[in-house]
Amino acid sequence: MEDRRRLWLAAIAAATDEVALREVDSRLFGKKGEVQDLVRSVSALQKEDRPTAGKAINLLKQEIEQALAAQQERVSQAALSKAVANVDFDPSESSPRRLAGALHPITIVQNELVDLFTSMGFSWQDGPEVESEHFNFDALNIPRDHPARESQDTFWLNDGNLLRTHTSPVQIRTMLRYCKNGFEPPLKVIVPGRCFRAETVDRSHEHTFYQMEGLVVDRFVSTANLIHTMKTCLRVVLGRDDLKVRLRPGFFPFVEPGFELDVNCPFCNGKGCSVCKQSGWIEILPCGMVHPNVLRAGGIDPEVYTGFAFGMGLQRVVMLRYGIDDIRLFMGGDQRFLQQFPEVLR
Ligand code: DAH
Repeated sequence: MEDRRRLWLAAIAAATDEVALREVDSRLFGKKGEVQDLVRSVSALQKEDRPTAGKAINLLKQEIEQALAAQQERVSQAALSKAVANVDFDPSESSPRRLAGALHPITIVQNELVDLFTSMGFSWQDGPEVESEHFNFDALNIPRDHPARESQDTFWLNDGNLLRTHTSPVQIRTMLRYCKNGFEPPLKVIVPGRCFRAETVDRSHEHTFYQMEGLVVDRFVSTANLIHTMKTCLRVVLGRDDLKVRLRPGFFPFVEPGFELDVNCPFCNGKGCSVCKQSGWIEILPCGMVHPNVLRAGGIDPEVYTGFAFGMGLQRVVMLRYGIDDIRLFMGGDQRFLQQFPEVLR
């Protein structure tokens, strides 16, 4: 037995790769394996010899099994180190930090506004960013020779279309869509979206920016409804209950009367500071009562219905809310800026 023991241990030690090990394993422990044979041979012995021989054989079997397992471990460790040595791999190198995604500050505020307005019964409309001259200007009561066109420096495309300069064209698209489908006002929609102007970029001007348009059309809609809605909206986005607003006349061809809605400066509470240029007020929301020509262009009878509209510059609201002083940060893609808004993804 001792001879066999030595032979087997030597065979195991000589198996230095997976294939050789598998062979030794089946040679010793397979169906007709040598160790198994030895175990079986106990039954052929005299009855009185069986216990002693059986015990010795079992011990040997265990020893051989352990030797095989130990060799298996050694072989796989060796294979692993070889694989690692072949790869250009430095286990002491620290792994790159995985950055968690977060929402862009404009998206955060836009989501809040959408939640607020949908809770007041508004629905969300989308429109194309490549727009026709008709929807962007003519249907909004801005004819070709009107100076108001010049205030919106436009990116014209070769085919005569343009990149929309504001979200207002979606007012017309929405009214037409509603009418075509046989709906009658009331109609209450918001239109968040991206707009473009051929502007020289500086700390308060961007060529690409976000607006949120609002449009309400119904019987007997008045300026009081407009003011109430705007106040509610600003209180929620600026997170203040005590904000005052004021209306000044403002000219936009698609509303009559048109207003500039100012809010009490949230930084100095109206006392005057550098943000509000000592005036105590911040111009934030152009709005007004929808011009009859615009209602007509949307297929709605201005003798029966009236409406109000507003066009909020989303960046402006975000800048006010977070105290950001340079509009270029929004599109700059600088992570040091973006990481300051760790809003959880929803
Ligand atoms: N479309 C205008 C702009 O981008 C903003 C605007 C003003 C929208 C008055 C409106 C409004 O709906 O009533 O300058």
